[in-house]
Parts: sequence; structure tokens; C-alpha cells
Amino acid sequence: MLYISEFNNNLLDWYQANRRDLPWRRTNDPYKIWLSEVMLQQTQVTTVIPYYNKFITKYPTLDDLAGAPEETLLKDWEGLGYYNRIRNFHAAVNEVKNSYNSKVPENPDDFFSLKGVGPYIGGAVLSIAFNNLAAAVDGNVLRVMSRLNMDYRDTTKQSVQKSIKRDIESKMPLEAGDFNQALMELGATICTPKTPKCIMCPVQAHCEAYINGNVSELPVKKKQKQKAEKYYNVYFIVNDKEEVLLQKQQGTLLKGMYELPKYDVDTSIETIEETLGLSLDHPNIHAGTEKHVFTHQIWYMEGYILYTKDDHEDFIPEKEVDKLPMSKAMRKLYHHFSA
Ligand code: ADE
Ligand code: SF4
Repeated sequence: MLYISEFNNNLLDWYQANRRDLPWRRTNDPYKIWLSEVMLQQTQVTTVIPYYNKFITKYPTLDDLAGAPEETLLKDWEGLGYYNRIRNFHAAVNEVKNSYNSKVPENPDDFFSLKGVGPYIGGAVLSIAFNNLAAAVDGNVLRVMSRLNMDYRDTTKQSVQKSIKRDIESKMPLEAGDFNQALMELGATICTPKTPKCIMCPVQAHCEAYINGNVSELPVKKKQKQKAEKYYNVYFIVNDKEEVLLQKQQGTLLKGMYELPKYDVDTSIETIEETLGLSLDHPNIHAGTEKHVFTHQIWYMEGYILYTKDDHEDFIPEKEVDKLPMSKAMRKLYHHFSA
């Protein structure tokens, strides 16, 4: 136990002296802490800061965000990616508003029952907002822990992540929120993926990989699956009223976001006319090419311009388009047409 507390004290002392002054570290409002962790879950700190500031200015309380239309929230989230995060968060804060009198529940069973609250978000919010003794295991923490314990298990496996979570929780000090953030901070600033700054590390004396000279071998990550490559033709379909056809997505990846109609490159114009119920003039004006890399997919997009005289409920005046939520992938291509 002496060993554990020495490790904990070294880490916590280092954190107190070196913690970055981040906007969500200046509040103890559970709603704001939760919002920050939802943003940070898959996105870098420097990207998150302006979005976080915008959101807490525009939606200073949980009720403000709960009452906002989903489409407005998607627009405000535009560019952050993983749009299900904000849709789930919106549903979850509405549940908090309706079932918990707008007070974020401290009870882990209640909190974990909310939409979008998985092991990471649950652990992070419960520990940082309420000092609940729950670990918050993200990529930084997996890297730090695998090196500290010279743990050669595959950190991409859920069973290994769970085991690391249990290990942390068995040794956690009462300052749970600071401890979790200290582990993340160590991973983000000292124990970095390439050339970690072990010389400056506050827990170097406890680090098995450092002591044994094996830091560069860790963490082990089973070779990641290759991203699926998708080849799409994307159509900028315009009529003579300066309107363009935009469709609200239903699928899972980009649900609620607007897109230009896109089809597998092999789809014929006749099939597209049939699906949309439009007859299209297709002079084959090529407007541009874009690529966008998602976590599990890469989209290669070819853009074409088509004209129609027909009506369709999805036509939107071109000057309205910038007000609608659109993914970064689609926005990039859209700008080839509307530049
Ligand atoms: N990444 C995830 N959560 C974080 C936090 N609270 N502070 C800094 N980086 C983080
Ligand atoms: Fe990471 Fe190096 Fe510190 Fe070990 S000594 S925890 S490898 S920075």
C-alpha cells in the first residue's frame, strides 16, 4: 500500500503543479463537465475548446440545451464529427430534465442508464463532477497503464480495457476526478505515443517499461482493420428557381445531417431518376473531387451537376444551405459547386 500511495501522491502532486488551464476545469457544474467529456471523447483538446465555449455561452444550463431543436444543435456541432454524440447527449439531458428535475444524477445506475453514457463518459463525469471512485479509461490512459505495468496485452480488446479499468479502481485515491485527469494529462503531455518524455515523468520510478527499457514496445494494439473504401458520385441537382436538392440522412453515421444525393459510382442516372422521381438533364458537368476519412471508412467522392425542371419536396433555396447542418465531408464537396 505504501507503494501505491507514493505513486498516487507523485502523480497528483505533478498534476496540481502542471495541469493545463482548460475551460471545463474552471467549473464544477456537472452539466458542463459532462458536455466537455462528450466533446473530448473522440476529439483533441485544441479542437474542443472553441466548441465548448460556444456551447456554454449559447446553452448555459442543462435546460437551455434540452430545449434547443436537434437541428440547431447539429448545426452548432458541425465540424466536430461523430454527430451521434450530440444527438444522444440531447436525448440524455432531456431525460435528466424530465425524470431528475434537471439535476444530473449522482447515482451511477441512474447516470449509466442515460443515452450515450458508456464506461468512459460514465467514469469521467461521475469522478470529475462527484468524485465517485470510477476510472475513465481513454486511449491516453491505456497507453500510460500498459507502460507502467509493462502490460503486453492487446489494448484494443474490450476485455483488456475492462481489466485495466478494474486495476485503476482498485488503487484509486479519494481525489478520483483529479486522479483520472492526471492520468489523461500524463498521457497527453509526457507519456506521448512517440518519444515520451520519460526524463520528466513524475512516476518514472514506478514504471516497469521504463525500468526495463521497453517503452517503445508499448502499448500493443492489434493491427487495426483497414478502413472500408466507399466510392460515391455526388449530385448537385438544381432547378431554375436557384434551389438545390438536399436530403436529411436517416442512417446511423450521419443521422440528421443534410447531404447532397450520393450514390455508388455504379448507379446509373436512370436508376437515380427513378429513385428520386425526377427527370434529369445530365450534361455530365464534373464539379470536383473530394476524399474524407472517417474512423472506419474513407469516402472518395466525385461531384456532378444535373438540372431538372421537376418539383421535389427536398429542394432548398441555395442561400439557405449554409444554415443547415452538413458533415465536413459533404460541406467540402458542396463548396466546389457553390464557390
Ligand atoms: N480528455 C478527456 N477528458 C479530458 C479532460 N477532462 N481534460 C483534458 N483532456 C481530456
Ligand atoms: Fe510513460 Fe515514460 Fe512515464 Fe513510463 S516513465 S509512464 S513510459 S513517460
